Order: sequence, then structure tokens, then C-alpha cells
Amino acid sequence: MSEHYQNYIDGIWRDASDGRTFEDRNPARWSDLIGTFPLSNERDVDDAVKAARKAFHNWRLMPAPKRGLILQKAGDLLVKYKEDIAREMTREMGKSLIETRADVQEAIDTAYYAASETRRLFQHTVPSELPDKFNMTVRMPVGVCGIITAWNFPVAVPSWKIFPALASGNTVVFKPSEDAPKSAMLFVQTLIEAGVPAGVINLIHGDGSTGRALVEHPDVNLIAFTGSSQVGAEIASICGKTYKKVSLEMGGKNPQIVMDDARLDLALEGVLWGAFGTTGQRCTATSRLILHEAIHDEMVERLIEEARKLRIGYALEPDVDIGPLINEAALKKVTYYVELGQKEGARLVLGGKRPQGPEYDDGFFFEPTIFVDVKPHMRIAQEEIFGPVLSVLKVSSFEEAIAVANDVKYGLSSSIYTQDVNRAFVAMRELEAGITYINAPTIGAEAHMPFGGIKQTGNGHREGGWTAFDIFTEIKTVYVDYSGRLQKAQIDTYES
Ligand code: UN1
Repeated sequence: MSEHYQNYIDGIWRDASDGRTFEDRNPARWSDLIGTFPLSNERDVDDAVKAARKAFHNWRLMPAPKRGLILQKAGDLLVKYKEDIAREMTREMGKSLIETRADVQEAIDTAYYAASETRRLFQHTVPSELPDKFNMTVRMPVGVCGIITAWNFPVAVPSWKIFPALASGNTVVFKPSEDAPKSAMLFVQTLIEAGVPAGVINLIHGDGSTGRALVEHPDVNLIAFTGSSQVGAEIASICGKTYKKVSLEMGGKNPQIVMDDARLDLALEGVLWGAFGTTGQRCTATSRLILHEAIHDEMVERLIEEARKLRIGYALEPDVDIGPLINEAALKKVTYYVELGQKEGARLVLGGKRPQGPEYDDGFFFEPTIFVDVKPHMRIAQEEIFGPVLSVLKVSSFEEAIAVANDVKYGLSSSIYTQDVNRAFVAMRELEAGITYINAPTIGAEAHMPFGGIKQTGNGHREGGWTAFDIFTEIKTVYVDYSGRLQKAQIDTYES
């Protein structure tokens, strides 16, 4: 059943001003048309930004804990609709039901966290260097926030940005990925039902050109983006020229190190989940497995055996572990890297192709794929593939493992399996990444902890937890002089 869906601007559902649309299809059953959505243009973006600007006035003045009640309600509604949204999400972007439920749960956790933060939003009071003077800082909302997100976490990732933005008193123009517009719409509907006022949340569907219009719009104060490093760099340069605050969450090439003293059963479970969960389409996915030579052969053998058992299919049908890739472009990209890996001299030991059978013909399925004999300089060890492709690298020492792990341009997540507490602590210090897991896979961040990366993964911000509020607020420094006379900092204390 296919339907037509609309933008949500200033409290009204409406089409793109020029009536253009795009299609949203099921990546596991491409003939299944989910719906058509507006392909929004600059005028639509402008309307949404104007609505957000107008609504900002009242929203920022609402006491933060009162805003928190609305966010709490949104969390309650997401609990109520969790199963329905998870099912729609699996149909729309393919990942398994346990994963789409977890996606919604991450948004629930974020809603409740942001709601409770509206009763804190702590800042500092500190002594003044002068008598009868009071020094403090307070948080101010930034203004109109443009939120641009990817399709792989169609509810969780928007929630990481939108809940803290709203809690802080900002208004939002949300441009979700064109590959998962329906999940985004269901998320926005819960916000509306929870009582987020007209203009405070605006939803505009569209493609890259829609996103660009939002980034370029002079009356947007902040852009928060999740997507590729290439697009992120472009966004950052536009934001630089137009004086916008910008928070970027971009690519990864995340390593899991397994040392000779590791519990191999645990490391094996970890890499299966980290590399092939979400069909490898996470920015946190494990795409490099760095094995100590002493356990290399055993680990590879067991990994192939276990990965072979993963069941591929349409995840609304029973017993499916791995869904499809998101679209044809993703399939082409993964296929390209599989060919490239072989040309580069790596050995393909599992997968590398589409599964055979009529149930796979109408979707973008790809088998779990493992390369061994991968060398650190190879492009399959350096570049983000965003698919179920794991590169295995062999090392002969802990130091080499760390060096290989760090030898990429990204720095999001990282993991080491070892029973040696000393090594674990050295790894925590040395791994160049925003996130390090000890004896756990590279995926599985919790909503109340900072999330983000270094190098070409991020630009210094952290979503999630308490740090998200640093993105979505500006600090105002306030001095209150109650001495009744002119006091001079840097002078009075020292000259008299
Ligand atoms: C992403 O892939 O953009 O840690 C986010 C994880 C998830 C979030 C991933 N909780 O894998």
C-alpha cells in the first residue's frame, strides 16, 4: 500500500511548492513502493526557516522544565508506538526488527534524558575578583537549527539532535534522508502529538539540494549533520562562510583488535555483531579486524564458520539476521570494493556476492564478506565501505596492533579484546578514536554518553549525553555589580 506524504511547516502538512515528489521504496522488495514524498526546493526551505524563526520567540521563553514535559510525553508516545515504528522502519530501510526496536528505544532514552536535563542545564557561578560583584554563566539557545540526518538510524540519530535542541529552547528544521523519510515522519508525528507547538519542529523532505538550501539559508544559526565526511566537509565550509555553528558526525573505519590473550568466543561474537549488524551500514560498524598472529588462523576459521550461518533476508519475515543494503548505489559501491580488494591482493574467504535465489532478486542483498591477508595501506583497509565487508589484518605485537588501528583518516569507534588490564589501559590512551570499547564490539553506544569522533570523523563536538547541550546552547557570561560604584577589573585589585 503506497501513500503520499507531505512536509510539515508551521503546523501544517503540505506539498512542495512546485509539487515535485520522490519515491520511497523497500530495499528488500524494491517493487514495494512505500510512498511518495515532497522533493522540497529553496522556497519550501525558506518557509520552514521563517516558521522556525517566528516560533523561536515563544519557545525560548517557555521555562525549560515545561519544555521538558513535552519531551517526556514524546518519550511516552515513542514507547507506545515502538513496535509500529520499528516495523515501518524495517520495511523502509531493511535492518532487523531487534535493531529497529533498539533504534526507537535509543530515541526513547534520549527523550527522557533531554527531558530531565531541562531541570539542570547546569552552568557555573564563580567568585569575582572584585568585591560586591557576582559572576555566572547561563546557557542560551542558539536559534534555528537545521538538522540533516542519514537513513541508517532514521529515528535514533534525529532524536540525538532534535531532543537536546528543543530542550535547550531552539526551533528545528529537520531534513531527513530521502532513503528513510517515513520513519522520520513517524518520529515527527509523535513530537506533534506530544504537544510541540507549530513552527517549533518543521519537517522538509528532499534530496541533497534541499539539504544544501538549508545549509546556505542565512537565517539558520546551526547545522547538525550525520553523513559522509565528504558532504560534511562541504557543509562545514558553507557554514564557515555563513557564520553558522556546525556539528558534524561523519565516517568511520572502526577497528576491533583481538590480542593473543583474548577470550576468543567473546571476540567472535563481538565481531559478528559489530561487522554484520545493520548489514555493516553503521558509522560505528567494525570494518577492520586486527588479529594477533598467535590466534589469527583459529579466529578466521571460526569467524567464517559463524558468519556463514547468518541468515539474510527481508527482516519482516521470520529468522532473519541480516537485511539488504539500502539501495542500488550502495550495492554498486560494495561490489566495487569487493573487486578492488581482490585486485589489491587481499584474499576473499567468504561472500563477496549477492545471495542466490528468487527471494533475493527484488532487493539489494549482499552476503557477509570477509577478506584476509589485508595490508594496512590497501584501500579496503582505509576507506569506508558501509556494507557487510570485513577486512582482517594480521599483526605480531600489541604495539603493531595499535599502530595499524590508528593508521586511517577516521577516528570514531575502536575496540580491543584482551584480558590484560595494563594493555587495556594503554589502548584506552593510545587508540585514536572518540570511543574505545574494552571487550565489547565497536557498535552499541548508549544514549546518555558522549558520541562522536576525531580526525575526519568529527569537528570537535559530541552528541549524546550531557555534551549534546554544548552543541545546542551558547554560553552567556553575566557580571552583576552590586557595589554601586565603577569597579575596574585587572586594575582595582592590584593598584590599591
Ligand atoms: C550511526 O551509525 O550513525 O553505537 C550511529 C551504535 C549506535 C549508533 C550508531 N548506537 O552503533
